[in-house]
Amino acid sequence: MPDCILAMDQGTTSSRAIVFDLKGDIIAVSQQEFRQIFPADGWVEHDANEIWDTSLKTAQAAFTEAEAKGYTVKAIGITNQRETSVLWERDGVKPVHNAIVWQDRRTANVCRSLKDAGHKAEIQDKTGLLLDPYFSATKLAWLLDNVSGARKAADAGTLAWGTIDSFLIAKLTGGKRHVTDATNASRTSLFNIRTQEWDDSLLKIFGVPESVLPDVLDSCADFGETTPDLFGRAIPILGVAGDQQAATVGQCCFDEGAIKSTYGTGCFVLMNTGKSFVPSKNRLLTTVAYRIGGETTYALEGSIFIAGAAVQWLRDGIKILDHARDSEALARQAADDHGVYMVPAFTGLGAPYWDPDVRAALFGMTRGTGRAEVVRATLESVCFQTHDLFSAMAEDGISPTVLRVDGGMVANDWMAQRLADLLALPVDRPKVMETTALGAAYLAGLQAGLYSGFNDLTAQWQCEQRFDPDSGFEGRGKMLAKWHKAVAAARSFA
Ligand code: G3P
Repeated sequence: MPDCILAMDQGTTSSRAIVFDLKGDIIAVSQQEFRQIFPADGWVEHDANEIWDTSLKTAQAAFTEAEAKGYTVKAIGITNQRETSVLWERDGVKPVHNAIVWQDRRTANVCRSLKDAGHKAEIQDKTGLLLDPYFSATKLAWLLDNVSGARKAADAGTLAWGTIDSFLIAKLTGGKRHVTDATNASRTSLFNIRTQEWDDSLLKIFGVPESVLPDVLDSCADFGETTPDLFGRAIPILGVAGDQQAATVGQCCFDEGAIKSTYGTGCFVLMNTGKSFVPSKNRLLTTVAYRIGGETTYALEGSIFIAGAAVQWLRDGIKILDHARDSEALARQAADDHGVYMVPAFTGLGAPYWDPDVRAALFGMTRGTGRAEVVRATLESVCFQTHDLFSAMAEDGISPTVLRVDGGMVANDWMAQRLADLLALPVDRPKVMETTALGAAYLAGLQAGLYSGFNDLTAQWQCEQRFDPDSGFEGRGKMLAKWHKAVAAARSFA
């Protein structure tokens, strides 16, 4: 019976499970969306029990389908929305509050106070991150301060905290393991990515006790075994990485300088910087790309909070789209000089602006503006933001020659072409677009000995289509100038 790997991909809007054969082809897929909870302006929560239920059900469905097709699932890889924070009772792995999602801005004031108190430089130097509510530390402190009795319980050792990977592993192993991997730890603001340890001084700054934190393992490691009742036998969990890092692995960006951009709920550009921690002077993040065999590979990251989520808002919020896939045909209908600009700052702006207070805005509408123009402006806003990340990278002395893209939005040919035109860079779209799940499967497969090393994986990467920048594309400078004017106006309105 041929071997295969189950990847659990727990994202911001859905839980997915994909089983891959060893060539990286998909054998079975299952997906379930779950509720987005918005308790107040700028607050975003998920019910951690729903996250677990949808993750388990999709994993079981994909597992059953793959084994019914004659494959044997050898290992599980987990990848997840990063930074999202869950606090749970160790006994029975019971969440004590909804998960606070990475997009949540409730701790913006805490971040401002920490900045005013002069902690920014130390945090950036040790973690590669900026002071922003995006990262986990202030979310964890909020949970400890706002869930009744939580601080006392944490001191008594009865509570555990983790990002989604850690929570899922605790559930899958019946509470036996409280672990995470270095990529997820690198998003907390509590983990020193130079020494690869939880940092006492950072724990003090954020007011967080070490007793609630998980052990940090390599991305390829023994994360424990599932309890036999879940899949009919115990399956080892052998690979874990945050979703953007997993996509970096799935896109085989193993060489220094290799760069990928994933268009999911948000958009995240990661460039492999090899064994060196490259600090950014232009408000990008330094982060862990993966840690394998005790060796850390670093990345520079640009994080855009809203990409596919803006299309989701067009569909579910103002309902001008029936399906996200209709956006391509509509975008093509708008005139090139339609003049509408969207700043999709629904949860503030991430890199390179890092402005948690700014909110979304549409500029330049006339009586002639319709669905096509608004849809096109939305897609273009994601391309403009990617352009801003590349400008920041260029100022940091980095000039990539090609960009590998993935994620639902770039299945849209118009969007992929506009991206190439605005970046003035070739954009490569791979054959397997499920790079996040594929990366998690690859990490588990490496640990299981199903692959001998990166070369096996690189040999499997295939380009489905290259989008070269159109030499006849006009108006780039004017469009970018208008975009920057729109961003400035939205920020001054906040
Ligand atoms: O840092 C947040 C990121 O991990 C979320 O990814 O795929 O849900 O956009 P995604």
